[in-house]
Amino acid sequence: MENLAWAKERITELTGLLERYTYAYYQEDTSLVSDYEFDRLLRELEELEDRYPQFRLPYSPTQRVGGEPVKNFKTVYHTVPMLSLGNTYSREDLTEFDARLRKLTDQPFDYVCELKYDGLSISLTYKNGVLTQALTRGDGSKGDDVTGNVKTIRSVPLRLKQNGYPEQFEIRGEVLMPKSSFEALNRQKEEIGEPLFANTRNAASGSLKLQDPAQVAQRHLDCFLYFLIGDSITEPLHEKRLQLAACWGFKTGNYYKRCATLQDVFNYIDYWEKERENLPFDIDGIVIKVNDTSLWSRLGTTAKSPRWAIAYKFKAQRVLTRLNSISFQVGRTGAVTPVANLEAVSLGGTIVKRASLHNADIIQKMDVRPGDFVYVEKGGEVIPKIVGVELSRREAGVKEYGFITHCPECGAALVRKEGEAGHYCPNEEGCPPQIKGKLEHFISRKAMDIDSLGEGKTELLYEKGLVKNVADFYDLRYQDLFAIEKTIEGKDGEKRQLSFKEKTVENILNGIARSKTRPFERVLYAIGIRYVGETTAKVLARHFGTIDALMNATFEQLCEVEEVGEAIASSVTEFFTREQERQIISRLKAAGLRMEYEEKKGENLLDGKNWVISGTFSRSREEMKRIVEYFGGKLQSGISSKTDYLLAGEKTGPEKRKKAEKENIPIISESEFYAMIGGEPAPDLFESKEESQSAEREERANPVQGSLFD
Ligand code: IVH
Repeated sequence: MENLAWAKERITELTGLLERYTYAYYQEDTSLVSDYEFDRLLRELEELEDRYPQFRLPYSPTQRVGGEPVKNFKTVYHTVPMLSLGNTYSREDLTEFDARLRKLTDQPFDYVCELKYDGLSISLTYKNGVLTQALTRGDGSKGDDVTGNVKTIRSVPLRLKQNGYPEQFEIRGEVLMPKSSFEALNRQKEEIGEPLFANTRNAASGSLKLQDPAQVAQRHLDCFLYFLIGDSITEPLHEKRLQLAACWGFKTGNYYKRCATLQDVFNYIDYWEKERENLPFDIDGIVIKVNDTSLWSRLGTTAKSPRWAIAYKFKAQRVLTRLNSISFQVGRTGAVTPVANLEAVSLGGTIVKRASLHNADIIQKMDVRPGDFVYVEKGGEVIPKIVGVELSRREAGVKEYGFITHCPECGAALVRKEGEAGHYCPNEEGCPPQIKGKLEHFISRKAMDIDSLGEGKTELLYEKGLVKNVADFYDLRYQDLFAIEKTIEGKDGEKRQLSFKEKTVENILNGIARSKTRPFERVLYAIGIRYVGETTAKVLARHFGTIDALMNATFEQLCEVEEVGEAIASSVTEFFTREQERQIISRLKAAGLRMEYEEKKGENLLDGKNWVISGTFSRSREEMKRIVEYFGGKLQSGISSKTDYLLAGEKTGPEKRKKAEKENIPIISESEFYAMIGGEPAPDLFESKEESQSAEREERANPVQGSLFD
């Protein structure tokens, strides 16, 4: 009985604490606790809720990491239709809009100008202060119930703050993907060879429609609310309603502004037209609303949109320039992307020389030909795109363009998969950019994380014929690498002289040797199976346990795994039928890479966190480093603003401690560290045969495995 009462109280307490921390972090930009502490509390709550589900609160923050996947979203009718807005690109229309309203109302009134967020609209229902339903706009009268997905958006309150809110009401707003999340997502997609999202709006809408909330949680969406609905809302002014909503815990953003005159509206537009590029999310215009909602009903709505509001949309910036040629990029997975090389032209403040041409179908549909004058637009898209051809300027003799039939890099005949618009080079084993891409993916941070091989070194090893596939990394010897030299051109166009001196060679070999401690799921991700990203690699590693079991799995067995669809299943089976891949795997195995899944007590506990290690410990410093890396942490040589923890042993210098304190970086003792990773690892688990136990000798960056220097 005692225990039950305690559990209930602790669940309530943890829920409240986590709620407060989430609000502070996502809406007030303040961290009240470290990520580590937050995760610890969340885990404690999860465990308690598992044991005492009867005390789980309907607004529990554990829902933020994702509830049960759904097969199909339920369709639900909106209580009030979700209208769209009349929109315009012209200021004259705004002048007309203003004149019309002033005439109709016959009384002075203000506007509220808001940003027009470029996402997808959402309608949230709260009952007794708790989020009960989230619907997409759908066709305006009925939408999809995406409640589970919306609950993962940290800025959407699961329970309201303060009080004074109606017993039941709806609030509408926009779900969007911040630019930073978008870039991270596209980088991830690029890594696993999936098509990229063209803009943040598509990415937000694609994410909100995922059937697994846990995946949505990884997409880091955001949500701004701008429209309170319900007879029970008594406050008549829209601006005040936004303020009320903010008091209840909604993210309204403080970008909106009351504008008394049309000139004020124009000033607001001018300001944001320039400033939009500095916002952390995309907007595609400005929304102008009558402030006094008592006028809303008087002005009424047309069939599609209210008369009391209008959207002013920013024009996509567009220029005309000459298409000099079309070239092609071949990616890691063999995808061939056509790129337009343009006569340099200024567009929206940047000089554009290249633009996306997407695929053969689009080239054909627009009938674009090298030598043509083309319209280039920069909308919400990352890369400017060609939107049309100015036929009146086509010169005689400009020939029709036929898409390439062979790979520009290796000459192999291109293939087109059924149902896909893109062309692929099938020569996975012999096409240089594909091979280089695979090598680079293998050493990348989330894969084997061999950063000593970055900065063009991998490419150099490939060009020198030392590394042709990922297994070759583990055969490298000191004498292969020493004194290699080459001039390379960095991404910034600057030329650098690369020469492998003693120290570089040691670093490379140490990095490679250290990578052998990466867990199986990272190896699985690193070998670059199409569609197998980090998450899928984890799921597969956990499910099958060993590489052999995975290699022998049938298509059907793969499909049975939750989160594995047919595309992934066929990609995996196809990968392992290739003799070359099987040979690489057996060489990686022989080199000592982990090919078995290990259920770790503290798996990924230190995931991506930056650590500085200082002082002496009960085991060697090298071992401590290996433990940090094994549990997903990253090592840094000195304290910086990016450091998450200082692991301080005995004799840690007072300067280091002071610096950490100044930067608010938690100082972790050896025993605290072991507690963080679920207990002290067995004494020999992270020891290296060649390693000296004396701290002084370790400081000399000795090779981790002597055999590499034979
Ligand atoms: S008000 C009845 N305010 O733009 C009016 N809409 O083209 C409801 N949007 O469907 C909409 N930012 O998805 C409003 N500050 C804002 C907005 C906004 C973006 C979207 C919304 C709407 C579309 C209309």
